[in-house]
Amino acid sequence: KRHLISAADLTRDDALLVLDTAEELAQIASRAVKKLPTLRGRTVVNLFFEDSTRTRISFEAAAKRLSADVINFSAKGSSVSKGESLKDTALTLEAMGADGVVIRHGASGAPHRLAGWVRGSVVNAGDGTHEHPTQALLDAFTMRKRLGDLEGRRVTIVGDVLHSRVARSNVLLLTTLGADVTVVAPPTLLPVAIDTWPCSVSYDLDGVLPKSDVIMMLRVQQERMNAAYFPTVREYSRRYGLDAERMAALPDHAIVMHPGPMNRGVEIAAEVADSVRSTIVEQVANGVSARMAVLYLLLGGSEPAIGQEVSQ
Ligand code: CP
Repeated sequence: KRHLISAADLTRDDALLVLDTAEELAQIASRAVKKLPTLRGRTVVNLFFEDSTRTRISFEAAAKRLSADVINFSAKGSSVSKGESLKDTALTLEAMGADGVVIRHGASGAPHRLAGWVRGSVVNAGDGTHEHPTQALLDAFTMRKRLGDLEGRRVTIVGDVLHSRVARSNVLLLTTLGADVTVVAPPTLLPVAIDTWPCSVSYDLDGVLPKSDVIMMLRVQQERMNAAYFPTVREYSRRYGLDAERMAALPDHAIVMHPGPMNRGVEIAAEVADSVRSTIVEQVANGVSARMAVLYLLLGGSEPAIGQEVSQ
């Protein structure tokens, strides 16, 4: 495959290949091998039209650990403020020799359009309320490390599903991997087309907690919220927030996830976010391995294989 635009692009075999490759890369990194030569001579452009901490930094770290040259582009401070279009921006960067373009954009579908304009591989790093496939990959990687095979595992995704590209990509990828996914949200924070998603829907968080192997809390996306959609923060936290009392209702082996950034005290209590069940910091670390695997598989071609390490 040339691009990664949607989690639906991945068959079960594709997804397992990415996860196994990420595991192999993480093991190499744990042997204090900082860099692999795989993408030497290749250029990766990080094209960010929306703010990001985790995704932007981890794609940069991933590309550098594979020895690629990295160009970081942020719309803020660029000629986008003078009205330059996405297409002209992309063609300008391609003229500088991009083999891979990692794009985050506020418009759903922007990575798909970009893939039609540039010769290199396009990786979706989050487009509007649509998808965030590498987040789903790093989440699946984290679940596999903690819980083993995902076949039959019960994953509950809670919160602002309406605005969440993380939720959509996770539902698609996790069901491809055989997990049983339930989304829990206020009716006003569910997409109109939720019936077409391959998951169950519940409005009763307390009812699903004891049956969950994973609980994934979503950020309440105030910046995309129409005030009419949202109950008060207090009411939301009371009905859909994960506090210590609710966490105690989970099975002993269950893990608590959040893609970040978090609204502590809204969708997740600080003591839950910082608890031993939380994988939130682990998810960030795993993001580098998962993104290395994606770049390696899309751009690596027949260049030096994983086994050829460069210690630095
Ligand atoms: N999870 C995630 O995409 O975080 P950033 O917005 O900080 O990249």
